[in-house]
Amino acid sequence: MEDTATLRIANENYTFPIIEGSEGEKAIDTQKLRAQSGYITFDEGYGNTGSCKSAITFIDGEKGILRYRGYPIEQLAENSNFIESSNLIIYGDLPNRESMKTFSNRVLKNASIDVGMNQIFQGFPQSSHPMAMLSAMLNSLGCYYPDLATNDRARDLENFDEAAATLISKVRTLAAMSYRKKSGLPFVYPKQKMGYCQNFLHMMFSEPYNDYVPHDDVVKALDLIFLLHADHEQNCSTSTVRMVASGGANLFASVSAGVCALWGPLHGGANMAVVNMLQRIHDDGDDGSEYIEAARRGEARLMGFGHRVYKNYDPRARILGEVCEKVLSALGHNDPLLDIARRLEEKALNDDYFVQRKLYPNVDFYSGIILKAIGIPLDMFTVIFAIGRMPGWIANWKEIAEGDSRIHRPRQIYTGKNTRDYVMLKNRGPEWPQA
Ligand code: CMC
Repeated sequence: MEDTATLRIANENYTFPIIEGSEGEKAIDTQKLRAQSGYITFDEGYGNTGSCKSAITFIDGEKGILRYRGYPIEQLAENSNFIESSNLIIYGDLPNRESMKTFSNRVLKNASIDVGMNQIFQGFPQSSHPMAMLSAMLNSLGCYYPDLATNDRARDLENFDEAAATLISKVRTLAAMSYRKKSGLPFVYPKQKMGYCQNFLHMMFSEPYNDYVPHDDVVKALDLIFLLHADHEQNCSTSTVRMVASGGANLFASVSAGVCALWGPLHGGANMAVVNMLQRIHDDGDDGSEYIEAARRGEARLMGFGHRVYKNYDPRARILGEVCEKVLSALGHNDPLLDIARRLEEKALNDDYFVQRKLYPNVDFYSGIILKAIGIPLDMFTVIFAIGRMPGWIANWKEIAEGDSRIHRPRQIYTGKNTRDYVMLKNRGPEWPQA
């Protein structure tokens, strides 16, 4: 194969190297384009732009393939758990017994937070959204562990193992606290002997006078949800983490920005939007047909459908679609929203509009129904996504910190006014601004 590409602009040829990834995906390396030709590439939304080389996650959206560090998501979902997969994602390989123990112990011992952080929580009004609290609290961790958040790359990397385990552990404690704060409930402290997910559910739902004991299937389903969200290459929040990290910011600040990026309904907020949509369809007495019609007319979006990268069934949605049934029946729930979701899926997969645009269910289509059955309130859904995505953000921060990439700084095509002279305030009359 040619290992260069030639671009012809105004009778001038420019040649660029072609680079190839380990799965055969190809890119034209245009890093010298502007220096050589004066032109830049324009790719709003970055649909065709490789922003980095990364060895963490591979997705083939056409074939519906997702692998963490080379391991197919289906095998990890079947055999691994969230903590082991986090270790895999962050450090690049499945851990042996020894390294698994070291990592798990680090996570375990970091579950508590400084009591000073309780005061920060008290300062939030009760109406605060848990995502806003989570982002703020993750960044605040840097104030309590200044040695782990120096913004000096070499020092932050020296303390990386501790910072990573701190975040994996404390994001769950802070998430549960944000729920308790919002619900006006006292904080519940983590327990030493509990596994990762059980401990989270304990901090969410136990009362000082009554320990919450979750069903085994609930613990497993939550662990699976975390695992399936653990990384997804250069999505909006992960790119944000890398962008912030590229300026040299510490790990806590970088993942805090990731939480903000995740919040939007087109990204991590979609799981919440799916349940709202299903509830609306249910309340309207629609069997899904009217909603599909509205989507075809461009008046509605089928939330939980479509993906920038997957032009096939999202493998995470397939796994969760199967688990959904199991969890609901284990809990004895008969949720009419699941019937609506199944009907919507069937209709959409056989509808020209969705088929032509290759719109398939994504991870959020079924995760919300499971979370609802577990008893997680709607405004905590995106927080659950954030807990799951933490290892991916951490691994991507590490890649940036250990690499030699320059600060991320895209260019733009300016479409504003050309130079004009300043006008004094007294001269700006009722017709201001001038056409
Ligand atoms: N319902 C109806 N039409 C859709 C949908 C949808 N869910 N998604 C895309 N389309 C249409 C869109 O209107 C456009 O049609 P046309 O070509 O006629 O203008 C075409 O499909 C291409 O859509 P796009 O918006 O250009 O695609 P995108 O790659 O920019 O957006 C997306 C991807 C995920 C934001 C979008 O599919 C969407 O809004 N889906 C619903 C929200 C959702 O489920 N988000 C979770 C994504 S998975 C979790 C994560 O990774 O964050």
